[in-house]
Amino acid sequence: MQESSLLSSCTARDHLHDRFADRLVRRNDLSRRLVSYQANKAQPGLRWFKYKEGFSKDLVDDALSAANGPVLDPFAGIGTTALIAAGGGRSATGIEIMPVGTRAAKAISWVANQRDMEAFQRVANDLLRALDGHGEARHESRFRHVPITCHAFSEETEAAIATARAFLGDIADDGLRLTLDFACMSVLEAASFTRKDGQYLRWDSRCGRKLRGRMNKGPIPSYRSALERRIAEIVADHPALARQYGGRTPRIVEGSTLVELPKLATNSVGLTITSPPYANRYDYTRTYALELAWLGYDRAAFGDLRQALVSATVENRSKERQLAQCYARPRTLAQAKAAIASQAALAEVLETLNANRAELSNPHVIRLVANYFAEVALVIAELARVIRPGGRVVMVNDNVQYHGEEVPVDLILSAIAEECGFVCEEIGVLPRGKGNASQQMGRFGRRELRKCVYRWRMPERRR
Ligand SMILES: C[S@@+](CC[C@H](N)C(=O)[O-])C[C@H]1O[C@@H](n2cnc3c(N)ncnc32)[C@H](O)[C@@H]1O
Repeated sequence: MQESSLLSSCTARDHLHDRFADRLVRRNDLSRRLVSYQANKAQPGLRWFKYKEGFSKDLVDDALSAANGPVLDPFAGIGTTALIAAGGGRSATGIEIMPVGTRAAKAISWVANQRDMEAFQRVANDLLRALDGHGEARHESRFRHVPITCHAFSEETEAAIATARAFLGDIADDGLRLTLDFACMSVLEAASFTRKDGQYLRWDSRCGRKLRGRMNKGPIPSYRSALERRIAEIVADHPALARQYGGRTPRIVEGSTLVELPKLATNSVGLTITSPPYANRYDYTRTYALELAWLGYDRAAFGDLRQALVSATVENRSKERQLAQCYARPRTLAQAKAAIASQAALAEVLETLNANRAELSNPHVIRLVANYFAEVALVIAELARVIRPGGRVVMVNDNVQYHGEEVPVDLILSAIAEECGFVCEEIGVLPRGKGNASQQMGRFGRRELRKCVYRWRMPERRR
């Protein structure tokens, strides 16, 4: 029997829904393909690394007309917004905490700005030749595993990876090294016993780990052949990249947006096109474990990175003390806090989850939800400061559900944005939402959660 929603009356959420009802617009032109990475699979550059959380070039192309002036993406991923905006002649900045994403963005930009690819091709061929050799790789070049990556590669692949790492260390030119290093990192998954799947890495049964389920990912290419294909793709994409993104280099900042946004000047941005992490327990450090280990992250560094990401996992602890200490503008912090305090719908969600704490699959989802909104509110308050009058925010996000309780992320964030001075013009709803997790579906029935693209405008006269 299905359990009914725990909330007998969800008054505050109903009120919030009523407040935004005329701006919740079903948009048939918004498809899942558009707001996800899917459509980038044929896009030069963007296709090199499967960053599943990315959005499409088409979405950015379309959103760029929303406002003039410098463009900012505070959750830049592989730099989709920043690259496209810069390619179109706009000044563009992307802030991203995952080095996996910033490496991809920088590699795409580097290739786009090469006059020819001869030097790259020459060094890449030398690397492929080194991989043909059977010499012992230096021990210090071996891939340093963390517990969640152990057994990801066969012994031959481990040896090939060590050879590649030793080779990369000897390349003197920074851009060339970065791009070839990125190419080597980008094929780790293909040559491994793992597959990025939903929230986790799934493991092929040939890996030698003790596994509960059985998965066979099909033929696994050798590291060398996967790399050779990627190198060919990079070289083949050069002319198109030079046309699309050449001439201007976006500023890609590697760091936490919570720390980096306060460094941007007031009224310095015309348009933000972004997609923050969703409040859905997704752990980027797990999905990109192979790539982070490639980049030298040890167990402690994994933990630090997870904690610095916007809270979206049950492991995340509050960042409040740290932010209060380092925050340059206490006014923005106070504004974000006030905006959160006035969210009756959020309070209602938290109260209901608290009242049912014992039944939650993990009680830390309560602090996840609370911290998620506290941190994104701070980002919104900062955006309200840096976006000039007449500027806009275009934001992609999903609603989530915990224990049968819908969290209307779209409405709460839009209400926070209005508290911070924006006008919510539209919450564009995709015709097909997102199903709830299978465990929740069994207990609470199927419910489609809204996937949306929000549009907020900063009025010509600030409040
Ligand atoms: C939904 S993805 C956006 C992907 C991007 N639109 C693209 O096309 O690649 C959200 C991004 O926010 C990043 N992120 C999470 N916490 C962050 C933080 N504190 N500072 C900067 N970026 C963060 C994640 O690493 C992830 O790349």
